[in-house]
Amino acid sequence: MSPVLTTLRALSPESLAACLTAAVAAPSVHNTQPWLFRARGPEIDVMADLRRRLRVIDPDGRQLAVSVGAAALNLRVAMRAGGRLPVQRLLPDSVHPETLVTVFPGPFSPPGAGIRELAAAIGRRHTSRAPLCTSAIPWQVQQDLIAAAAAEGARLTGCAPVARDGLLALTRAAEETLHRDPAYRDEIAAWTGGPASRTDGVPVAAFAPRDATARLPLRDFGLGHPQPRRPDGARFERFPALMVLSTAGDSRYDWVRAGQALQRVLLTATVHGLAVTPMNQALDVPALRHLTGGDGAGRHAQAILRLGYGTPGPVTPRRGVDEVLV
Ligand SMILES: Cc1cc2nc3c(=O)[nH]c(=O)nc-3n(C[C@H](O)[C@H](O)[C@H](O)COP(=O)(O)O)c2cc1C
Repeated sequence: MSPVLTTLRALSPESLAACLTAAVAAPSVHNTQPWLFRARGPEIDVMADLRRRLRVIDPDGRQLAVSVGAAALNLRVAMRAGGRLPVQRLLPDSVHPETLVTVFPGPFSPPGAGIRELAAAIGRRHTSRAPLCTSAIPWQVQQDLIAAAAAEGARLTGCAPVARDGLLALTRAAEETLHRDPAYRDEIAAWTGGPASRTDGVPVAAFAPRDATARLPLRDFGLGHPQPRRPDGARFERFPALMVLSTAGDSRYDWVRAGQALQRVLLTATVHGLAVTPMNQALDVPALRHLTGGDGAGRHAQAILRLGYGTPGPVTPRRGVDEVLV
């Protein structure tokens, strides 16, 4: 660490608690919350909890690293909104590869309105799997989302109709392939439903409603918990707005950066009143993932996002900070 930074004060216990509370509000694959945190002097390590890796859909830990990256982004936003410039190191320690990001509080600096809006969106952001309104997303809003991804080193690309239809076909094929795999069914059953006291996993209230038209291939979280069929299915939008988040590389470093970019995009979308659903099934099937490559320029897709206006997603549970602080 540079001599200037070592002279900076650590966060107060209240500010540290606020940063960690923000971090654990991040989205994670199947709400596995695969993160641990360690405060060392002024530094905060954001670590992967490998026990929470999804062995079937995430054997190499890509989605785990994306999830941890999202938590680190929240931590940085909360630190910045609290008046300190966050400084981060990615993959800082080759001896402890589970530490994916170290963040420490840099100089004092009053936060601007933009960062305060992002920080305020952290608690409001939730994944929505409801039907969304297809009204066009204004050009300026799209530019803000693209800029949010670029600020974290990733690219967000809107899908023209042909690309959208191709992605939907791939997603449908992936969803069907996954359904046929008993190990996938077991894994999704293990991370869904459960008692109301459960603090991880996707609760039944967050499952998508039944699609009356069977057109939109959202991930079926109800696979392991067959729900009584509702008499009327929901009518999903016919032409969903899809965007692909991609990176130039596909290393652990790129996955963590992709997670930070994903979360900055999701918070920016929340500020603009947009609901978002990741539809990543095609990324879970290696034979299909390489067909989804961002804008086709040899890039690596890290998330496929459906966006629109509509009901915000329901609150999902989280483990408390005391459970994830080592
Ligand atoms: C890496 C990653 C992959 C995800 N993939 C999907 C997905 O394919 N389908 C989906 O409906 N939600 C997906 N999600 C959303 C999570 O299920 C969601 O973040 C988690 O259940 C917590 O809920 P919340 O976002 O409402 O806080 C993904 C999230 C992350 C970070």
